[in-house]
Amino acid sequence: MLKVMVVGGGAREHTLVWKLLESTKVAEVYVAPGNAGTAAIAKNLDISPNDLDALSRAAKDNGIDLVVIGPEAPLAAGIVDILQRLGIPAFGPTKEATLIESSKVFAKRLMQQYGIPCARDAVFSSFDEAQDYARKQRPPLVIKADGLAAGKGAIVAQSTEEALKALSDIMEARVFGDAGSQVLVEECLVGRETSLLAFTDGKTVVPIVPARDYKRAFDQDLGPNTGGMGGYSPPGFFNSDLTSTLTKTILEPAVQAMAQEGRPYKGVLYAGLMLTSEGPKVLEFNARFGDPETQVQLPLLKSDLVDIMLAVIDGTLERTKIEWSDEACVGVVLASGGYPGSYKAGFPITGLDKVDPDLLIFHAGTKLEDGKTCTAGGRVLTMAATGKTVADAREKVYRDLPQVHFEGGHYRKDIAAEEA
Ligand code: AMP
Ligand code: GLY
Repeated sequence: MLKVMVVGGGAREHTLVWKLLESTKVAEVYVAPGNAGTAAIAKNLDISPNDLDALSRAAKDNGIDLVVIGPEAPLAAGIVDILQRLGIPAFGPTKEATLIESSKVFAKRLMQQYGIPCARDAVFSSFDEAQDYARKQRPPLVIKADGLAAGKGAIVAQSTEEALKALSDIMEARVFGDAGSQVLVEECLVGRETSLLAFTDGKTVVPIVPARDYKRAFDQDLGPNTGGMGGYSPPGFFNSDLTSTLTKTILEPAVQAMAQEGRPYKGVLYAGLMLTSEGPKVLEFNARFGDPETQVQLPLLKSDLVDIMLAVIDGTLERTKIEWSDEACVGVVLASGGYPGSYKAGFPITGLDKVDPDLLIFHAGTKLEDGKTCTAGGRVLTMAATGKTVADAREKVYRDLPQVHFEGGHYRKDIAAEEA
Protein backbone atom coordinates (compact mmCIF):
# COMPACT_ATOMS: atom_id res chain seq x y z
CA MET A 1 0.00 0.00 0.00
CA LEU A 2 1.27 3.43 -0.98
CA LYS A 3 1.54 6.73 0.81
CA VAL A 4 0.91 9.57 -1.63
CA MET A 5 1.51 13.31 -1.25
CA VAL A 6 -0.33 15.87 -3.38
CA VAL A 7 1.19 19.35 -3.75
CA GLY A 8 -1.25 22.28 -3.98
CA GLY A 9 -4.36 23.61 -2.30
CA GLY A 10 -7.04 24.18 -4.94
CA ALA A 11 -10.09 22.29 -6.16
CA ARG A 12 -7.85 20.54 -8.71
CA GLU A 13 -5.78 19.13 -5.87
CA HIS A 14 -8.87 18.18 -3.81
CA THR A 15 -10.07 16.24 -6.88
CA LEU A 16 -6.69 14.51 -7.23
CA VAL A 17 -6.74 13.52 -3.54
CA TRP A 18 -10.30 12.20 -3.83
CA LYS A 19 -9.47 10.16 -6.94
CA LEU A 20 -6.21 8.81 -5.50
CA LEU A 21 -8.10 7.62 -2.41
CA GLU A 22 -10.35 5.52 -4.68
CA SER A 23 -7.32 3.42 -5.59
CA THR A 24 -7.02 0.11 -3.79
CA LYS A 25 -3.25 0.68 -3.79
CA VAL A 26 -3.36 3.86 -1.70
CA ALA A 27 -3.16 3.67 2.07
CA GLU A 28 -2.94 7.33 2.91
CA VAL A 29 -2.79 10.73 1.23
CA TYR A 30 -0.97 13.84 2.47
CA VAL A 31 -1.60 17.28 0.95
CA ALA A 32 0.59 20.38 1.04
CA PRO A 33 -1.12 22.62 1.96
CA GLY A 34 -4.62 21.40 1.02
CA ASN A 35 -7.81 23.08 2.27
CA ALA A 36 -10.82 22.34 4.50
CA GLY A 37 -12.10 19.82 1.95
CA THR A 38 -8.91 17.80 1.82
CA ALA A 39 -8.60 17.95 5.63
CA ALA A 40 -11.74 15.79 5.83
CA ILE A 41 -10.26 12.96 3.74
CA ALA A 42 -6.48 13.33 3.91
CA LYS A 43 -3.71 14.74 6.09
CA ASN A 44 -2.99 18.41 5.41
CA LEU A 45 0.59 19.62 5.85
CA ASP A 46 1.11 23.32 6.47
CA ILE A 47 3.68 23.73 3.68
CA SER A 48 3.62 26.17 0.77
CA PRO A 49 3.79 24.55 -2.69
CA ASN A 50 6.75 26.86 -3.34
CA ASP A 51 8.83 25.72 -0.37
CA LEU A 52 10.73 22.97 -2.18
CA ASP A 53 12.98 22.18 0.80
CA ALA A 54 10.05 21.67 3.16
CA LEU A 55 8.14 19.64 0.56
CA SER A 56 11.02 17.27 -0.09
CA ARG A 57 11.74 16.95 3.63
CA ALA A 58 8.07 16.12 4.31
CA ALA A 59 8.08 13.52 1.53
CA LYS A 60 11.16 11.90 3.02
CA ASP A 61 10.11 12.12 6.69
CA ASN A 62 6.65 10.69 6.02
CA GLY A 63 7.91 7.83 3.88
CA ILE A 64 5.97 9.01 0.81
CA ASP A 65 5.99 6.61 -2.16
CA LEU A 66 4.52 8.95 -4.79
CA VAL A 67 4.33 12.75 -5.01
CA VAL A 68 1.75 14.34 -7.35
CA ILE A 69 2.31 17.99 -8.21
CA GLY A 70 -0.73 20.16 -9.03
CA PRO A 71 0.46 23.71 -9.82
CA GLU A 72 3.12 24.87 -12.29
CA ALA A 73 5.31 26.95 -9.97
CA PRO A 74 6.91 24.06 -8.04
CA LEU A 75 7.40 22.15 -11.33
CA ALA A 76 9.14 25.15 -12.89
CA ALA A 77 11.30 25.50 -9.77
CA GLY A 78 12.43 21.86 -10.04
CA ILE A 79 10.52 19.93 -7.36
CA VAL A 80 10.48 16.78 -9.51
CA ASP A 81 14.26 16.90 -9.98
CA ILE A 82 14.80 17.22 -6.22
CA LEU A 83 12.46 14.31 -5.45
CA GLN A 84 14.11 12.19 -8.15
CA ARG A 85 17.50 12.78 -6.51
CA LEU A 86 15.99 11.56 -3.23
CA GLY A 87 14.68 8.46 -5.01
CA ILE A 88 11.03 9.46 -4.48
CA PRO A 89 8.79 8.90 -7.54
CA ALA A 90 7.13 12.16 -8.59
CA PHE A 91 4.36 12.74 -11.11
CA GLY A 92 5.10 15.77 -13.27
CA PRO A 93 7.79 17.03 -15.64
CA THR A 94 11.32 17.98 -14.60
CA LYS A 95 12.41 21.62 -14.52
CA GLU A 96 13.99 21.30 -17.99
CA ALA A 97 10.78 19.81 -19.40
CA THR A 98 8.49 22.31 -17.62
CA LEU A 99 10.13 24.99 -19.78
CA ILE A 100 7.39 24.20 -22.32
CA GLU A 101 5.08 26.15 -19.97
CA SER A 102 7.50 28.36 -18.06
CA SER A 103 9.05 29.95 -21.17
CA LYS A 104 6.68 30.93 -23.96
CA VAL A 105 9.71 31.81 -26.09
CA PHE A 106 11.11 28.30 -25.65
CA ALA A 107 7.71 26.75 -26.49
CA LYS A 108 7.39 28.86 -29.65
CA ARG A 109 10.88 28.00 -30.86
CA LEU A 110 10.19 24.32 -30.23
CA MET A 111 6.92 24.46 -32.19
CA GLN A 112 8.55 26.33 -35.09
CA GLN A 113 11.50 23.97 -35.24
CA TYR A 114 9.35 20.84 -35.20
CA GLY A 115 6.50 22.04 -37.41
CA ILE A 116 3.80 22.25 -34.73
CA PRO A 117 1.21 24.81 -35.87
CA CYS A 118 1.08 28.06 -33.84
CA ALA A 119 0.63 31.82 -34.26
CA ARG A 120 3.33 33.86 -36.05
CA ASP A 121 5.36 35.91 -33.62
CA ALA A 122 8.39 38.08 -32.94
CA VAL A 123 10.43 38.07 -29.72
CA PHE A 124 11.94 41.13 -28.05
CA SER A 125 14.09 41.90 -25.07
CA SER A 126 14.36 45.60 -25.98
CA PHE A 127 11.33 47.76 -25.19
CA ASP A 128 12.17 50.21 -28.02
CA GLU A 129 12.38 47.47 -30.62
CA ALA A 130 9.16 45.85 -29.37
CA GLN A 131 7.37 49.21 -29.62
CA ASP A 132 8.68 49.86 -33.15
CA TYR A 133 7.52 46.43 -34.25
CA ALA A 134 4.08 46.71 -32.63
CA ARG A 135 3.50 50.12 -34.31
CA LYS A 136 4.09 48.54 -37.72
CA GLN A 137 1.62 45.66 -37.21
CA ARG A 138 -2.08 45.80 -37.84
CA PRO A 139 -4.04 45.21 -34.60
CA PRO A 140 -5.37 43.11 -32.93
CA LEU A 141 -2.09 41.80 -31.53
CA VAL A 142 -1.33 39.48 -28.65
CA ILE A 143 1.40 40.55 -26.23
CA LYS A 144 2.85 37.84 -23.99
CA ALA A 145 5.38 37.86 -21.18
CA ASP A 146 7.86 35.02 -21.65
CA GLY A 147 7.74 33.62 -18.12
CA LEU A 148 5.11 32.44 -15.65
CA ALA A 149 2.57 35.11 -14.76
CA ALA A 150 -0.18 33.19 -12.97
CA GLY A 151 -2.17 32.85 -16.20
CA LYS A 152 -2.29 36.63 -16.68
CA GLY A 153 0.74 37.04 -18.96
CA ALA A 154 -1.12 37.22 -22.31
CA ILE A 155 -2.88 40.42 -23.37
CA VAL A 156 -5.09 40.49 -26.46
CA ALA A 157 -4.67 44.11 -27.62
CA GLN A 158 -7.43 45.39 -29.89
CA SER A 159 -5.58 48.60 -30.80
CA THR A 160 -1.97 49.75 -31.24
CA GLU A 161 -2.36 51.88 -28.08
CA GLU A 162 -3.40 48.83 -26.05
CA ALA A 163 -0.46 46.87 -27.45
CA LEU A 164 1.98 49.65 -26.51
CA LYS A 165 0.46 49.88 -23.03
CA ALA A 166 0.83 46.11 -22.56
CA LEU A 167 4.47 46.26 -23.70
CA SER A 168 5.19 49.10 -21.30
CA ASP A 169 3.42 47.31 -18.40
CA ILE A 170 5.35 44.10 -19.01
CA MET A 171 8.78 45.42 -20.06
CA GLU A 172 9.08 48.74 -18.21
CA ALA A 173 6.80 48.56 -15.17
CA ARG A 174 7.60 44.83 -14.91
CA VAL A 175 4.12 43.98 -13.64
CA PHE A 176 5.05 40.29 -13.96
CA GLY A 177 8.60 40.77 -12.65
CA ASP A 178 11.38 38.94 -14.50
CA ALA A 179 8.77 36.98 -16.49
CA GLY A 180 8.66 40.15 -18.60
CA SER A 181 12.34 40.42 -19.52
CA GLN A 182 11.37 39.00 -22.91
CA VAL A 183 8.06 39.43 -24.73
CA LEU A 184 6.38 37.80 -27.65
CA VAL A 185 4.25 39.84 -30.03
CA GLU A 186 1.89 37.41 -31.75
CA GLU A 187 -0.68 37.53 -34.51
CA CYS A 188 -4.18 37.23 -33.08
CA LEU A 189 -5.80 33.95 -34.04
CA VAL A 190 -9.54 33.65 -34.57
CA GLY A 191 -11.66 30.59 -34.10
CA ARG A 192 -13.06 28.38 -31.40
CA GLU A 193 -10.79 28.14 -28.38
CA THR A 194 -10.39 24.72 -26.81
CA SER A 195 -7.83 22.54 -25.12
CA LEU A 196 -6.68 18.96 -25.06
CA LEU A 197 -4.73 17.32 -22.26
CA ALA A 198 -2.91 14.00 -22.29
CA PHE A 199 -0.95 11.67 -20.07
CA THR A 200 2.51 10.98 -21.45
CA ASP A 201 5.53 8.99 -20.31
CA GLY A 202 7.76 10.74 -22.84
CA LYS A 203 6.94 8.24 -25.61
CA THR A 204 3.29 7.25 -25.52
CA VAL A 205 0.58 9.93 -25.49
CA VAL A 206 -2.89 9.07 -24.15
CA PRO A 207 -5.46 11.86 -24.41
CA ILE A 208 -7.63 12.71 -21.41
CA VAL A 209 -11.38 13.03 -22.00
CA PRO A 210 -11.89 16.54 -23.48
CA ALA A 211 -13.27 19.36 -21.37
CA ARG A 212 -14.29 22.95 -21.87
CA ASP A 213 -13.58 25.65 -19.30
CA TYR A 214 -15.03 29.12 -18.85
CA LYS A 215 -12.46 31.79 -18.11
CA ARG A 216 -14.57 34.95 -17.85
CA ALA A 217 -16.09 35.93 -14.51
CA PHE A 218 -19.69 36.50 -15.61
CA ASP A 219 -22.42 34.92 -17.73
CA GLN A 220 -22.19 35.20 -21.52
CA ASP A 221 -18.41 35.41 -21.23
CA LEU A 222 -18.50 38.92 -19.84
CA GLY A 223 -16.21 40.45 -17.26
CA PRO A 224 -12.56 39.90 -16.46
CA ASN A 225 -10.55 36.72 -16.98
CA THR A 226 -10.37 34.38 -13.99
CA GLY A 227 -8.60 31.13 -13.18
CA GLY A 228 -11.75 29.41 -14.49
CA MET A 229 -15.40 29.62 -13.37
CA GLY A 230 -16.55 26.15 -14.35
CA GLY A 231 -16.43 23.55 -17.05
CA TYR A 232 -17.85 20.38 -18.44
CA SER A 233 -16.87 17.21 -20.19
CA PRO A 234 -17.21 16.16 -22.93
CA PRO A 235 -18.04 19.15 -25.17
CA GLY A 236 -20.47 18.13 -27.93
CA PHE A 237 -18.31 19.47 -30.76
CA PHE A 238 -15.28 17.50 -29.57
CA ASN A 239 -15.60 14.19 -31.39
CA SER A 240 -13.05 11.39 -31.48
CA ASP A 241 -11.74 12.56 -34.89
CA LEU A 242 -10.77 15.91 -33.41
CA THR A 243 -9.09 14.20 -30.46
CA SER A 244 -7.04 11.97 -32.74
CA THR A 245 -6.11 14.83 -35.10
CA LEU A 246 -4.92 16.96 -32.19
CA THR A 247 -3.05 14.03 -30.67
CA LYS A 248 -1.25 13.27 -33.95
CA THR A 249 -0.54 16.81 -35.11
CA ILE A 250 0.17 18.54 -31.79
CA LEU A 251 0.59 16.43 -28.66
CA GLU A 252 2.67 13.58 -30.10
CA PRO A 253 4.99 15.86 -32.10
CA ALA A 254 5.49 18.03 -28.99
CA VAL A 255 6.41 15.03 -26.83
CA GLN A 256 8.78 13.73 -29.54
CA ALA A 257 10.32 17.18 -29.91
CA MET A 258 10.96 17.39 -26.16
CA ALA A 259 12.65 13.97 -26.23
CA GLN A 260 14.84 15.05 -29.17
CA GLU A 261 15.77 18.21 -27.32
CA GLY A 262 17.02 16.09 -24.42
CA ARG A 263 14.14 17.18 -22.18
CA PRO A 264 12.00 14.04 -21.98
CA TYR A 265 8.51 15.10 -20.93
CA LYS A 266 6.54 13.02 -18.43
CA GLY A 267 3.29 13.92 -16.76
CA VAL A 268 0.23 15.70 -18.11
CA LEU A 269 0.71 17.88 -21.18
CA TYR A 270 -1.97 20.51 -21.68
CA ALA A 271 -2.33 22.15 -25.09
CA GLY A 272 -4.37 25.38 -25.25
CA LEU A 273 -5.61 25.61 -28.83
CA MET A 274 -7.42 27.74 -31.35
CA LEU A 275 -9.36 25.89 -34.04
CA THR A 276 -8.75 28.33 -36.92
CA SER A 277 -9.91 28.16 -40.55
CA GLU A 278 -6.35 26.98 -41.37
CA GLY A 279 -6.57 24.18 -38.81
CA PRO A 280 -5.80 23.88 -35.10
CA LYS A 281 -2.99 26.06 -33.73
CA VAL A 282 -1.37 26.08 -30.30
CA LEU A 283 -1.89 29.10 -28.03
CA GLU A 284 0.18 27.71 -25.18
CA PHE A 285 1.30 24.56 -23.43
CA ASN A 286 0.84 23.88 -19.73
CA ALA A 287 2.86 21.29 -17.86
CA ARG A 288 0.06 20.11 -15.55
CA PHE A 289 -3.62 19.27 -15.10
CA GLY A 290 -6.11 22.12 -15.62
CA ASP A 291 -8.26 23.80 -13.01
CA PRO A 292 -11.31 23.50 -13.31
CA GLU A 293 -10.85 20.84 -16.05
CA THR A 294 -9.62 18.24 -13.53
CA GLN A 295 -12.82 18.59 -11.49
CA VAL A 296 -14.89 17.45 -14.50
CA GLN A 297 -12.41 14.97 -16.01
CA LEU A 298 -11.30 12.80 -13.10
CA PRO A 299 -14.87 11.91 -12.03
CA LEU A 300 -15.13 10.26 -15.47
CA LEU A 301 -11.94 8.21 -15.11
CA LYS A 302 -12.74 4.53 -14.56
CA SER A 303 -9.14 3.29 -14.34
CA ASP A 304 -6.91 3.50 -11.29
CA LEU A 305 -5.15 6.89 -11.31
CA VAL A 306 -2.20 5.49 -9.36
CA ASP A 307 -1.57 2.85 -12.06
CA ILE A 308 -1.54 5.58 -14.70
CA MET A 309 0.78 7.83 -12.73
CA LEU A 310 3.24 5.04 -11.96
CA ALA A 311 3.19 3.98 -15.64
CA VAL A 312 3.97 7.58 -16.66
CA ILE A 313 6.92 7.64 -14.27
CA ASP A 314 8.16 4.15 -15.26
CA GLY A 315 7.70 4.68 -19.01
CA THR A 316 5.16 1.88 -19.41
CA LEU A 317 2.11 3.88 -20.47
CA GLU A 318 1.85 1.92 -23.73
CA ARG A 319 0.87 -1.16 -21.73
CA THR A 320 -1.58 0.63 -19.42
CA LYS A 321 -5.28 0.58 -20.07
CA ILE A 322 -7.02 3.91 -19.49
CA GLU A 323 -10.81 3.82 -19.49
CA TRP A 324 -13.27 6.69 -19.29
CA SER A 325 -16.94 6.57 -18.42
CA ASP A 326 -19.28 7.51 -21.25
CA GLU A 327 -21.21 9.77 -18.89
CA ALA A 328 -20.78 13.53 -18.65
CA CYS A 329 -19.65 15.83 -15.85
CA VAL A 330 -20.38 19.50 -15.16
CA GLY A 331 -18.60 21.63 -12.56
CA VAL A 332 -19.47 25.16 -11.43
CA VAL A 333 -17.13 27.35 -9.38
CA LEU A 334 -18.50 29.30 -6.44
CA ALA A 335 -16.28 32.37 -5.98
CA SER A 336 -15.86 35.13 -3.41
CA GLY A 337 -17.56 38.49 -4.04
CA GLY A 338 -15.12 40.67 -5.98
CA TYR A 339 -13.08 37.79 -7.41
CA PRO A 340 -11.00 37.95 -9.65
CA GLY A 341 -10.37 41.42 -8.19
CA SER A 342 -9.93 41.98 -4.46
CA TYR A 343 -12.29 40.15 -2.12
CA LYS A 344 -12.81 39.55 1.59
CA ALA A 345 -12.33 36.12 3.16
CA GLY A 346 -13.30 34.45 6.43
CA PHE A 347 -17.05 34.10 5.77
CA PRO A 348 -18.69 30.92 7.09
CA ILE A 349 -19.98 28.61 4.34
CA THR A 350 -23.42 27.17 5.08
CA GLY A 351 -25.51 24.45 3.50
CA LEU A 352 -22.68 22.07 2.55
CA ASP A 353 -24.50 19.31 4.48
CA LYS A 354 -27.76 19.92 2.60
CA VAL A 355 -26.32 19.03 -0.78
CA ASP A 356 -27.36 15.70 -2.37
CA PRO A 357 -24.62 13.19 -1.45
CA ASP A 358 -24.42 12.27 -5.14
CA LEU A 359 -22.83 15.64 -5.86
CA LEU A 360 -19.11 16.28 -5.65
CA ILE A 361 -17.90 19.28 -3.71
CA PHE A 362 -14.27 20.08 -4.36
CA HIS A 363 -12.90 22.76 -2.08
CA ALA A 364 -10.42 25.45 -3.15
CA GLY A 365 -10.12 28.58 -0.96
CA THR A 366 -11.60 27.17 2.24
CA LYS A 367 -10.29 26.66 5.75
CA LEU A 368 -11.53 25.51 9.10
CA GLU A 369 -11.93 28.24 11.71
CA ASP A 370 -13.20 27.11 15.13
CA GLY A 371 -14.59 24.00 13.51
CA LYS A 372 -16.48 25.99 10.87
CA THR A 373 -15.70 25.86 7.14
CA CYS A 374 -14.93 29.42 6.03
CA THR A 375 -13.88 31.10 2.81
CA ALA A 376 -10.15 31.63 2.40
CA GLY A 377 -9.61 32.45 -1.27
CA GLY A 378 -11.02 33.78 -4.54
CA ARG A 379 -12.31 30.54 -5.96
CA VAL A 380 -13.96 28.88 -2.97
CA LEU A 381 -15.24 25.57 -4.32
CA THR A 382 -16.27 23.68 -7.43
CA MET A 383 -19.54 21.79 -7.25
CA ALA A 384 -19.67 18.97 -9.80
CA ALA A 385 -22.10 16.25 -10.84
CA THR A 386 -22.00 13.40 -13.29
CA GLY A 387 -24.99 12.36 -15.38
CA LYS A 388 -25.97 10.40 -18.45
CA THR A 389 -25.73 13.58 -20.52
CA VAL A 390 -24.22 17.02 -20.02
CA ALA A 391 -27.76 18.35 -19.62
CA ASP A 392 -28.51 15.85 -16.80
CA ALA A 393 -25.30 16.66 -14.97
CA ARG A 394 -25.90 20.37 -15.41
CA GLU A 395 -29.39 20.14 -13.95
CA LYS A 396 -28.10 18.33 -10.85
CA VAL A 397 -25.42 20.93 -10.15
CA TYR A 398 -27.68 23.93 -10.60
CA ARG A 399 -30.45 22.33 -8.54
CA ASP A 400 -28.21 22.02 -5.49
CA LEU A 401 -25.81 24.93 -5.84
CA PRO A 402 -28.18 27.50 -4.23
CA GLN A 403 -28.08 25.42 -1.01
CA VAL A 404 -24.47 26.43 -0.45
CA HIS A 405 -24.09 29.97 0.73
CA PHE A 406 -21.58 32.50 2.00
CA GLU A 407 -21.62 36.27 2.05
CA GLY A 408 -20.92 37.76 -1.38
CA GLY A 409 -20.57 34.40 -3.16
CA HIS A 410 -21.19 34.34 -6.91
CA TYR A 411 -21.23 31.76 -9.68
CA ARG A 412 -21.98 31.62 -13.39
CA LYS A 413 -25.47 30.43 -14.34
CA ASP A 414 -24.54 29.47 -17.89
CA ILE A 415 -21.93 26.73 -17.50
CA ALA A 416 -22.66 24.08 -20.14
CA ALA A 417 -25.79 26.02 -21.18
CA GLU A 418 -25.07 25.38 -24.86
CA GLU A 419 -25.58 21.65 -24.24
CA ALA A 420 -28.76 22.01 -22.15
P1 AMP B 1 -2.15 31.93 -22.99
O1 AMP B 1 -1.69 32.26 -21.60
O2 AMP B 1 -1.07 31.96 -24.02
O3 AMP B 1 -3.07 30.74 -23.09
O4 AMP B 1 -3.16 33.09 -23.34
C1 AMP B 1 -4.30 33.35 -22.55
C2 AMP B 1 -5.48 33.62 -23.44
O5 AMP B 1 -5.18 34.64 -24.39
C3 AMP B 1 -5.85 32.41 -24.28
O6 AMP B 1 -6.68 31.54 -23.56
C4 AMP B 1 -6.54 33.05 -25.46
O7 AMP B 1 -7.88 33.36 -25.15
C5 AMP B 1 -5.77 34.33 -25.64
N1 AMP B 1 -4.71 34.19 -26.65
C6 AMP B 1 -3.42 33.82 -26.44
N2 AMP B 1 -2.72 33.80 -27.58
C7 AMP B 1 -3.57 34.17 -28.57
C8 AMP B 1 -3.45 34.36 -29.98
N3 AMP B 1 -2.29 34.20 -30.61
N4 AMP B 1 -4.55 34.73 -30.64
C9 AMP B 1 -5.73 34.92 -30.01
N5 AMP B 1 -5.91 34.78 -28.69
C10 AMP B 1 -4.85 34.41 -27.97
N1 GLY C 1 -8.20 26.18 -16.86
C1 GLY C 1 -6.99 26.70 -17.37
C2 GLY C 1 -5.77 26.18 -16.75
O1 GLY C 1 -5.78 25.33 -15.88
O2 GLY C 1 -4.70 26.63 -17.15
